[in-house]
Amino acid sequence: MMIKEQILKILEERKGEYISGEEIAEKLSVSRNAVWKGINSLKNEGHIITAVTNKGYCLSEKSTVFTAQSIYPYLEPYLRDKLAISVVPVVGSTNTELKALAEKGGAHGIVLIAFEQTAGRGRLGRSFYSPKDTGLYMSILLRPDFSASEALNITACAAVAASMAIDAAAGVETQIKWVNDIYLDGKKVCGILTEASIDFESGGLNYAVLGIGINLNTRIFPEELRDIAAAVSDDDTDLRSYISAEFLNRFFSYYNNLSKCEFLNEYRSRSILTGKEIIFVRGNETFGGTVTGIDDEMRLIVRLSDGKEAVFSSGEVQLIKGDIIK
Ligand code: BTN
Repeated sequence: MMIKEQILKILEERKGEYISGEEIAEKLSVSRNAVWKGINSLKNEGHIITAVTNKGYCLSEKSTVFTAQSIYPYLEPYLRDKLAISVVPVVGSTNTELKALAEKGGAHGIVLIAFEQTAGRGRLGRSFYSPKDTGLYMSILLRPDFSASEALNITACAAVAASMAIDAAAGVETQIKWVNDIYLDGKKVCGILTEASIDFESGGLNYAVLGIGINLNTRIFPEELRDIAAAVSDDDTDLRSYISAEFLNRFFSYYNNLSKCEFLNEYRSRSILTGKEIIFVRGNETFGGTVTGIDDEMRLIVRLSDGKEAVFSSGEVQLIKGDIIK
């Protein structure tokens, strides 16, 4: 971390408080002049920092520049040393970047967030609209030590964590559309893309890259998304620091106890499809039925029109249209 980033981390942790230049210099083992230079460079980047003789420096509560350091204060203390978070202005896709890093040996817990993606990717080869500043585009590099089949639950934990984090940050009530889209008032506000590399010898994973994209205060969507996508907030408050930390806190608490499946009840209670009539396509067959729940393997349980019960796995079924879901 550069000196100015270390200074910012200290100021963020005690936002609204004055901290003397001497204390900062001592903490970082640098000169007071180096602190002064770092503060100036932070001010130039737009951080609101006041300096008062004999009191020191204070990062204003109103200062909302989104940086890795602005996330840390909201993170659970145990995660602060475990995650290596970077925030960058623009990339093609944060998932693509982290996959390349993983191939080169990148460690578990690397988090990459971009202000903007020029080639954001969604599931099934789709693109993910990622305009500058109005969304959270984040990927996490994971090196799971559990089996590939258990790893399927990573995405489900992430869906629950995302839904809860959005609700906490924006004061809304989102739901999960099986298997991992987050909906608000019938429109998609968040998508998740998990990409994994399997180690065929051990049956485990070399790595997984979990990508999450949230439309935070996007106003205008491209024509083809207008009816199906929405933002979680209609004001311009920058929710990115809080929401990303909330997501990471909740996600890792589920992930660290993945075998206990603690996320399942929350997933079920947030499931938008339960109780809904849906049409499914599996291969060449089409089924109509009512979703009655989600089983312990994250499959959708459906009462078919002929009264029989069937279960569907995400990979093999396509949902056509629900009565409230586009
Ligand atoms: C989907 O809705 O199909 C999944 C969308 C996933 C988007 C996120 S944004 C951060 C990460 N980088 C990407 O290119 N995609 C994921």
